[in-house]
Amino acid sequence: MRKKIVAGNWKMNKTLEAGVQLATEVVNIAESELNNGATVVLCTPAIHLSAVAGVLKSGKKVSLGAQNIYQKESGAFTGEISAEMVKSVGAGYVILGHSERREYFSETNAQLAEKVNLALKYNLTPIFCCGETLAQREAGIHIDFVKSQLSESLFHLSPEDYAKVVIAYEPIWAIGTGVTATSQQAQDMHKELRTHLASKYGKVGENTSILYGGSAKPSNAKELFSQPDIDGGLIGGASLVARDFIDIAKAF
Ligand code: PGA
Repeated sequence: MRKKIVAGNWKMNKTLEAGVQLATEVVNIAESELNNGATVVLCTPAIHLSAVAGVLKSGKKVSLGAQNIYQKESGAFTGEISAEMVKSVGAGYVILGHSERREYFSETNAQLAEKVNLALKYNLTPIFCCGETLAQREAGIHIDFVKSQLSESLFHLSPEDYAKVVIAYEPIWAIGTGVTATSQQAQDMHKELRTHLASKYGKVGENTSILYGGSAKPSNAKELFSQPDIDGGLIGGASLVARDFIDIAKAF
């Protein structure tokens, strides 16, 4: 079912103390001001998850997510974190395939398919990221490229499993750059993706929650979220300020 979702991606920011403080502010503002039924998720650094889970228990409106998991279940993978571990600290979501992971850690569509499987096995909702570079857009291959990211990592799923996946379309040229895709550019891509997902999964595909990410902020969230195929946002920089983040969640 299409849900209104705003997820914050803290990336590699905040000490534990500062992260707990930010989460506390987000919960306090959300509890008193957020009444539009939007699902709000904080995707914190892995080392913060357990402490932030404790903070989020003081309210009902904010959920917890991780930013990554490893593509194996357990074992000798020094430094990595498994889906089961993330679940065990109280998270319900995990961002998978963020463009920064694809670029700096060489994550492939095939590895991401394994990560999606493990997330679903341990009842984590994958927030599956896709998006093109500026060069791909200028070459006119952006739509096919993004569609292939989705088909190669998700289309092996059964309809029952697929129904649990959330998509985040994040054009790479708009991430952290201050350049937001226009609401029309975002809408056009979301519509293409929804059609692509429906061609594989029918009604289930059509009802996917598709979030936009890339320099979303309080001043442009309303216009983005009013587009017929945009169901919310994956928010980087603006999620580091509680007021801005909740103002985005209030923009539906
Ligand atoms: P941004 O990041 O909002 O800072 O552009 C979005 C993201 O990378 O998820």
